[in-house]
Amino acid sequence: MLTGKNIILGICGGIAAYKTPHLVRLFKKAGANVQVLATASALQFVSELSLATVSRRPVLRGLFELEGPGDEDKTMHITLGEWADALVIAPATANTIARLNAGLCDDMLSVCFITLRPDKPVLIAPAMDGHMYGSPSVRRNLSALAGQGCLILEPESGDLASGQCGLGRMPEPEAIVKALVAMLQPAGESALKGRQVVVTAGPTREKLDDVRFLSNYSSGKMGFAVAREAARRGALVRLIAGPVNLATPQGVERIDVESASGMLEAASRFFGECDLFIGAAAVADYRPENPVKGKIKKNDEEMELRLVRNPDILGEFSASRRPGQVSVGFALETAGGIGYAKEKLERKRLDLVAFNVSDGATTGFEVDTNALTLIDREGHVTELPVMPKGELAGRLLDAVEPLLPRR
Ligand code: PMT
Repeated sequence: MLTGKNIILGICGGIAAYKTPHLVRLFKKAGANVQVLATASALQFVSELSLATVSRRPVLRGLFELEGPGDEDKTMHITLGEWADALVIAPATANTIARLNAGLCDDMLSVCFITLRPDKPVLIAPAMDGHMYGSPSVRRNLSALAGQGCLILEPESGDLASGQCGLGRMPEPEAIVKALVAMLQPAGESALKGRQVVVTAGPTREKLDDVRFLSNYSSGKMGFAVAREAARRGALVRLIAGPVNLATPQGVERIDVESASGMLEAASRFFGECDLFIGAAAVADYRPENPVKGKIKKNDEEMELRLVRNPDILGEFSASRRPGQVSVGFALETAGGIGYAKEKLERKRLDLVAFNVSDGATTGFEVDTNALTLIDREGHVTELPVMPKGELAGRLLDAVEPLLPRR
């Protein structure tokens, strides 16, 4: 499964570190070469000798190690990042997560993270007390790392070493290996390989005047995750992005737009040639009829705003597409309402609709996780439970691939 793959396992100082010798053994059993990098506090929780014994290599710790895997003619801090086929950080503590996001380079693990070749996958398995995991700074840092393309493996719920019970336990080593195998799966097996895919993502802004706009809470995370996964499977991906604060996924051509009209203009350039169109953007259905030049001045009067309909980008693609082109939409509601999704499937002439609910906590806008109900034209319904948006993107594309015409 991982035959010949060079895996760097970064271990941080958390109680779950005691599970890492077993994780190393599973990687080795799957055929991988494993190099362990331990932060200073990791070795308070797990013995260096155990890790070196099961990995068959000395554990690397400090910044100034002279010997390790890779090209002998280069310095260690560069060769590690070149040698690795993947970097797994398990358990990842709040401290290391913050340091990675800040770009610090003060130990071998953080240096390796920065020097890793950009096309190599990074899997981060956070483990910590539930309150720490839910804290705004940890959420923000994880979100930013997910935005850079790292796969965040959500911790599990249960009894925690802190004495609390809740979310924060590191997933079992078997689950980490499974996730890594999926990340390293060769794109050659995907029906998306070589296909042209257009993904819309994020919100649109509809100007009221030169300093104000109408918009929504979409962060772009869902659409960016879909674009990233399609590119990983070998597709040529054009990502038409509304105003979001996310890094462009590796290998994706990104076109930034602001309004629904701008999104339509950018997307329609690829209508003719794309094999698959996925509308994950939260496009404003209406825009102010007459945006004002400069800033609207306030007075004592009430103000009435006249809105006009925006173009339906996905609808226009579906209406103009030729046979064989596949059209996939999302449908967002704030509660229940699978009937609305079915209605959108019909009205927008989609092949598949992904229905999601924005609950303000684990699904929909802004958060790192989501849950989808997929509905196809034959009426098949597939429920995908709450999981990280990166994983969900993979499950969505698994369902979309069979809809593409055979080559
Ligand atoms: O960006 P995140 O914070 O990660 O949140 C993800 C998400 C909730 C935005 C995403 O999962 C999602 O549901 N996107 C679609 C939201 C939406 O606008 O749904 P809708 O039901 O209004 O639109 C239905 C479909 O038509 C969507 O595919 C939409 O992209 C498309 N559409 C809508 C209006 C319009 N004028 N043009 C369109 O193309």
